[in-house]
Parts: sequence; structure tokens; C-alpha cells
Amino acid sequence: MGKLIEQAADIIINSKSTIALTGAGISVESGIPDFRSAGGLWEKFDPAEYASISAFRSDPEKIWEMLREMDSVVRGARPNSAHIGMGELEKMGYLHYVITQNIDNLHQEGGTKNVIEYHGNSSTLSCLWCGKSYQAEEKRGEHPPRCECQKILKPDVIFFGEAIPQEAMSRSFQLASSAHALMVVGTSAAVSPANTIPGIAKQNGAKVIEINKEITHLTGTLTDIFLQGSAGEIISVLVDAVKRKGK
Ligand code: APR
Repeated sequence: MGKLIEQAADIIINSKSTIALTGAGISVESGIPDFRSAGGLWEKFDPAEYASISAFRSDPEKIWEMLREMDSVVRGARPNSAHIGMGELEKMGYLHYVITQNIDNLHQEGGTKNVIEYHGNSSTLSCLWCGKSYQAEEKRGEHPPRCECQKILKPDVIFFGEAIPQEAMSRSFQLASSAHALMVVGTSAAVSPANTIPGIAKQNGAKVIEINKEITHLTGTLTDIFLQGSAGEIISVLVDAVKRKGK
């Protein structure tokens, strides 16, 4: 692994434009279960029944059973050494943008400034009927949270069947098409269109560094360097190598 870390550090140091695509795996060490690993959220809640916009519109109270459980976990979570390490890489000028599929705000809390939230953010809620929006914090005691027009509010996260925010999509594709290096951290790359980002980057000549505790469908195909293990540990070692070599 040591040799691979050195190679990944060299790529990051020599890259003029490095971006990252992250998924739920980067937040597992912060106590937030991912979706598709054993014991993941989709083992408990069938996404077809709980995570589509049509399911939310037809029975928002039922969907808030899942959302409330997610919220109680996300609220107590703190950035782990993976989020903090990526914030350090950005501060040193070695990481330019993080495109995250996560809604937990942990990249921002971990110090990264340039974050594109592909699937929205759970810290605000909106009313699908009258358009009013609220901070999730101010509605925490209400189950389910209601708008002043009495309709049940929806978190500003992207459900299956909803469009990715246009700005997030176009900015991510633009960054992917001019990146020299792409770090893919803690994602199964199972969900489109986020999972098209590695292909776009690769097609345009980027080196792909994948960090995951298991192999994915990217590992044997697009990935140039596969660093297997927990994101927190791997990124800490990688940042140390970049600091040592970058001097
Ligand atoms: N360190 C590194 N990788 C990890 C760790 C860890 N500690 N824990 C889990 N992983 C890896 C898993 O091996 C898996 O490949 O993280 C990945 C998590 O995959 P998913 O659970 O599918 O999460 P994600 O890729 O973010 O899902 C994408 O699907 O359901 C939708 O909207 C949801 O944004 C989510 C999207």
C-alpha cells in the first residue's frame, strides 16, 4: 500500500486541477451508515418505497419515519479525519473542488470551502405547495415538520425521480472534463448521473484515485490507483505523504 500512497501523492502534487467525488462511505466513520453496505440504510428502508419523490408526495408522514431516523444520526455526526484531510488538501492548494453525493454538511464542517452538493443538503426544508423554506433546526421538535400553510415540509435533498440541481450538474461536468486528477472516495458509484463523473474525467485524461473499503465496478476499469481501506485512515496517510513530498 505504501507504494500506491506515494504514487497517489505524486499525482496530487503534480496535478493542476484535482477534484473529488465522495459518497456515503466517507461519512461512515462519523457514525452515519451508508446505503448499500451490509447494515446500510437501504437494508432497513426499501428505497423504492421510501426514497422517491412520488412516495413522499403520496405519504409524507411515512417518509418522515425514515427521515427522522436519518436526521437523528446526521445531527450528532462530526467530520472525521477523511473530511478534515480533504479540507487540508484544499487549504494547501492540492484539492480544488469536492463534489459530494452526501447531504450531511460534513465536508463544509471539515474545512472544505468548494463543495458541490449533488443531492442537496438536509439542513433546510421546503414546502412543495407554497414554496416557503425553513432551517431544519427551527422545525426539529415537530413530527412531521409542517409549513405555516399546514402542509408537511420536505428536506432540500434530492429524492429518486427528482432532477439534480442544474448548477451542481453543469459545474461538476465542467470540472470533471478539465480535471487532471479525480479522487473517488466512499461511493459505490451505483447512482446516475453522479456515477458518470469518473468516466468524464477519465475520458479527458484525468488520473483516477479510488479510496474504498471494497472494490467497486470502477476499480477494475477506470481506476488508476486503488487505495483499499477506510477513508479516514487512507486519507490521513495520503495527506501526510503529500505534505512530506510537497515541501
Ligand atoms: N471507508 C471507505 N469506503 C467505505 C467505508 C469507509 N469507512 N464505508 C463504506 N464504504 C464504501 C462502501 O464499500 C461503498 O462502496 O462506500 C460506498 C458506499 O456506497 P453507497 O452506500 O451506495 O453510497 P453512495 O455511493 O453514496 O450512494 C449514492 O445513492 O441512495 C442514493 O442518494 C443516495 O447519495 C446516495 C447515492
